[in-house]
Amino acid sequence: MHKKLFIPGPTEVGDDVLKAQARYMIGHRSQDFTDLYDSILTQLRELFKTDQHILVVAASGTIFMDITARNLIRSGKKALCCVNGSFSSRMYDAVVGSEKEADRLDVEWGKAVKPEMIKEKLEKSKYDVITICYNETSTGVKAHLKEIADVLKDYPETLLAVDAVSSMGGDLLYPEEMGTDLVFASSQKCFALPPGLAVGVVSQKALDRANEVKGRGLYTDLVAILGYYEKKKQTPSTPAISLLYAMDFQLKKMLKEGAEGIYQRHKAMADYTHKWALDRGFGLFAEEGYRSITVTTVVNTLGKDVGALNKALGEKGMILANGYGKLKDQTFRIGHMGDHTVEDIKKLLNCIDEIWELK
Ligand SMILES: Cc1ncc(COP(=O)(O)O)c(C=O)c1O
Repeated sequence: MHKKLFIPGPTEVGDDVLKAQARYMIGHRSQDFTDLYDSILTQLRELFKTDQHILVVAASGTIFMDITARNLIRSGKKALCCVNGSFSSRMYDAVVGSEKEADRLDVEWGKAVKPEMIKEKLEKSKYDVITICYNETSTGVKAHLKEIADVLKDYPETLLAVDAVSSMGGDLLYPEEMGTDLVFASSQKCFALPPGLAVGVVSQKALDRANEVKGRGLYTDLVAILGYYEKKKQTPSTPAISLLYAMDFQLKKMLKEGAEGIYQRHKAMADYTHKWALDRGFGLFAEEGYRSITVTTVVNTLGKDVGALNKALGEKGMILANGYGKLKDQTFRIGHMGDHTVEDIKKLLNCIDEIWELK
């Protein structure tokens, strides 16, 4: 039986989107491909109200961690990596893995990175880039990006690189308004597409920086990828054409709903889930005021068996996620991102009530 995915990615992909992939291949040096890619970039620009550079890479979102490390940090300079969960920690690993220097700003899991913490670091050291996770999927914490970008206004040399893997296309994200220089996501989260595409939005300032940096790699070279698009309106290497068909199709639906409509739907799902958890005597792992609207990390204060729950849910054609890494069993996560609606969430939570006899 198909299990409807209430995990925080990959998310449920609709039959219409799956079918949109099933078309004949086209050459990636053809006008047909240029039209397809242009249609996608135009729609992404409209959705995120941005005039910045956009690229869609055949890779998962993690590629942009390597892109950040290799393009935005000059030799002899360093990054400040804000770490408050597993994915923000992965960004730190990517930076040092590219032999770039980085300081960590560690914040307790479940808490948000606050602007004053970053300001304190910036007063002591110079950084080429600050990395932050917009939506820590491991903890359900969201960052207040604009407040952080406001701090950076006094530090024009410092770029803001944002992992928005589990929030772009769900939560609001307007790069210019929010002050991001590189913000990226994966197709298998809020876009409700199969995995395999990574989307990045890049400011001119970030591209200028990349031009100054040596050792950008080949597949991770922002200057080459964006330069190729400028000249030829195509991608330098073979794109994932089937996935791009699906993305083009899905973006049309997303634009119909609009970024604000999508945000409101996600907010309503998050509010419903939060209330459900608190009413049943569970806790919420993320600190108040910084709770994700795409994933809820529920503290398992009632000591319920999450593995057994998923088995029972599986028989009803649904699945949610256990806590991430060290939070396994202490927490469980409900993904309310992508195409899900409040009705879908209600159905899931009613089933949990029944299985755990909570009502
Ligand atoms: C916040 C965040 N960053 C990065 C990643 C890694 O993305 P990918 O698996 O698409 O490389 C994930 C995946 O769950 C994520 O949730």
